Amino acid sequence: MDIKAIIQKLYDTNDASREELLYLLDNIDDDSKKFLIDKAYKTRYKYFKNTVFMRGLIEISSYCKKDCLYCGLRRSNKNAQRYRLDVDDIVECAKRGDELGYKTIVLQGGEDAFYTDEKMIQIIKAIKKELPNNALTLSIGERSYDSYKKLYEAGADRFLLRHESATKSLYESIHNNESFEERIRCLRNLKEIGFQAGAGFMVGLPNQTNEDLVNDLRFIKELEPAMCGIGPFIPHKDTPLRDCSAGTIEKTVILLAITRLLLPKVLLPATTALSSIDSNGRNEGLRAGANVIMPNLSPMSVRKKYSLYNNKAFILDEDAEYRDSIEEKLKEAGFELVVSRGDNPDFI
Ligand code: 5AD
Ligand code: SF4
Repeated sequence: MDIKAIIQKLYDTNDASREELLYLLDNIDDDSKKFLIDKAYKTRYKYFKNTVFMRGLIEISSYCKKDCLYCGLRRSNKNAQRYRLDVDDIVECAKRGDELGYKTIVLQGGEDAFYTDEKMIQIIKAIKKELPNNALTLSIGERSYDSYKKLYEAGADRFLLRHESATKSLYESIHNNESFEERIRCLRNLKEIGFQAGAGFMVGLPNQTNEDLVNDLRFIKELEPAMCGIGPFIPHKDTPLRDCSAGTIEKTVILLAITRLLLPKVLLPATTALSSIDSNGRNEGLRAGANVIMPNLSPMSVRKKYSLYNNKAFILDEDAEYRDSIEEKLKEAGFELVVSRGDNPDFI
């Protein structure tokens, strides 16, 4: 097999077989990596030019009933500092975000029983009443079909639920034997209900092989999510994976670029985790096909308590308040920040 021919095929057809993707991941070198990133950037340019969509992230709760082995918010972590935000705090943050130009708000939190359907409907309606033209994204984990449907009907537009890993055995080994099938069912339900649904996975998980990453790539190609969150695994000191090594920026960027080629119109964030492992992570992600950033809008008082992994970027770049400096830095890197909802082109 010829590696550049595989990349060219990905560019021309937005597809490649399992064998080709594995060959690509196993054999990529500096020269072919440049070629891949160039093709990913061209593809991004076709649909989005050099624009970057921005979302304001509000971390609504650090309580979680799950026990994912990699995450600092896991319920067994007795050192975690827990907090939750109620309707008024959340609406206030969302309004501040709107003033700063964030026309999509993302509410993210652990799986916290405090946020019943009734509570979430109350929050969604309160935000939509204040900001009817803005998009609202939820990232609050697994729920029943009926629950998702109620949240959609209340006005939520999008839902992020990373699949984390498309290899059942790897998925279950890092999720305390939670059901892989249930996770996938949730994602399919979200799509069916009409959400712009977001899948996604971590790169560099302990024991993750290139075969596993090919499973992730083939899975997203088949699911065709509107969004896809990809970031490096980063160990957290209060979890069982504390001594494992983190995913690398190089590998994450390669996966971002291949994802852009497989799903040319996908909304693809340069994630905070990527910025956290490398100060140039955001720009490298954007150059490899990412087109979304999600700076933090959470109240200052809770920022340090929402700790999924260690060394999270608390730099200005990840703080929604510093919109102007974010915009300036993006401009220097050749990108243009746009103030809009930033929907997936297939949903407009
Ligand atoms: N390293 C990297 N990403 C993590 N996430 C949770 N814990 C970690 C970690 N230790 C990611 C998961 C989750 C998202 C909200 O954050 O992929 O879906
Ligand atoms: Fe909870 Fe999400 Fe962390 Fe898992 S990854 S422990 S579901 S907050």
